[in-house]
Amino acid sequence: MSGVVILAEARPEIDWDSLTFSFTQTDRMYVAKCDIGEEWSPGSMRDFDDLRISPAAGVINYGQGLFEGMKAQRAADGSVVLFRPEHNARRAQQGAKRLGMPPVPEEMFLDAVKQTVRENLRWVPPMGKGALYIRPLLMGSGPILGVAPAPEYTFLVFVSPVGPYFKGGITPTSLRVSDEFHRAAPGGSGGVKAIGNYAPGMIPSKMAKKEGYSEIIYLDAANHKYIEEVGAANFFCVKEGRISTPELTGTILPGITRSSIIELARSRGYEVKEEKVEVGYAMDADECFCVGTAAVVSSIGKIQHGDKVVEYCGGEVGSVTMQLYEELTAIQQRRAPDEFGWTVSV
Ligand code: PLP
Ligand code: COI
Repeated sequence: MSGVVILAEARPEIDWDSLTFSFTQTDRMYVAKCDIGEEWSPGSMRDFDDLRISPAAGVINYGQGLFEGMKAQRAADGSVVLFRPEHNARRAQQGAKRLGMPPVPEEMFLDAVKQTVRENLRWVPPMGKGALYIRPLLMGSGPILGVAPAPEYTFLVFVSPVGPYFKGGITPTSLRVSDEFHRAAPGGSGGVKAIGNYAPGMIPSKMAKKEGYSEIIYLDAANHKYIEEVGAANFFCVKEGRISTPELTGTILPGITRSSIIELARSRGYEVKEEKVEVGYAMDADECFCVGTAAVVSSIGKIQHGDKVVEYCGGEVGSVTMQLYEELTAIQQRRAPDEFGWTVSV
């Protein structure tokens, strides 16, 4: 343990003001393994390193894997805090069931996350300069040739200091509605954080970026008219003071930031509806924003769909977006009372 304390005291050579959402290798990672049909037993911490894995591993061949995304932040009271981590643990359990993997017990998941943060404390940015992004991964690591659950599973947790997900931070982003690509279809895996959900979005996102947009807004695959979500964040719009967000249909990821924003906004007197959000309704709204662990609350300045482009709030951050951003981040960093009991000290 003494080695860990020394590491925790030395600050890495990082320009905390220039952090982006990119990978920086840190000191330590957590690894646990479990054979199919067995119970998980707690894993252990080790120095960050490459994995040794069979070329026939289920995850490499058939994408049997899921991930989570969480943040540890320095708080106003000097502690390092997580945000509602038990929800990530539970969502990972739902995903594991959908993908035929043994769910990691909630306590073990939370212990793994806390240990990994504690042993990488020196990588947690100063308050307000970013966060330590936490990436739990669960995958079929055993060899398998038939399309079936792998014989062995690996659960690991690594971390990386990060800055804003969208370049420009709080500056409103420009998004494009895709008429060509869908993220998820009914009955598929859109409602869980399957690793396989993300690769198909890379080229659409790259194409949008080439034309000056930060991300894609996906429409539902069945009717092709209701907004689902934004790349890796949930969508909200505000019209005449009423907040709408796409209802969870199984094809949308049940975001933890999404449910927190719904609760927070309702507690502040807003009417919040989880409903079908037609793209035309959103284009006609007063404000739009997207939310997620990485995205936090990101203001949307412009949406393009077909030959129509709309700008919201003259390209400025809308007042409801700003209020919810301020209030959520204040709670997450314990700059405001944690009235919902959402933060957990590491
Ligand atoms: N939607 C997708 C597809 C995501 O990958 C994420 C990120 O985790 C979200 C929404 C937001 O979820 P959360 O707020 O739990 O991070
Ligand atoms: C998160 O917000 O944690 C995400 O999962 C986004 C990630 C895909 C970059």
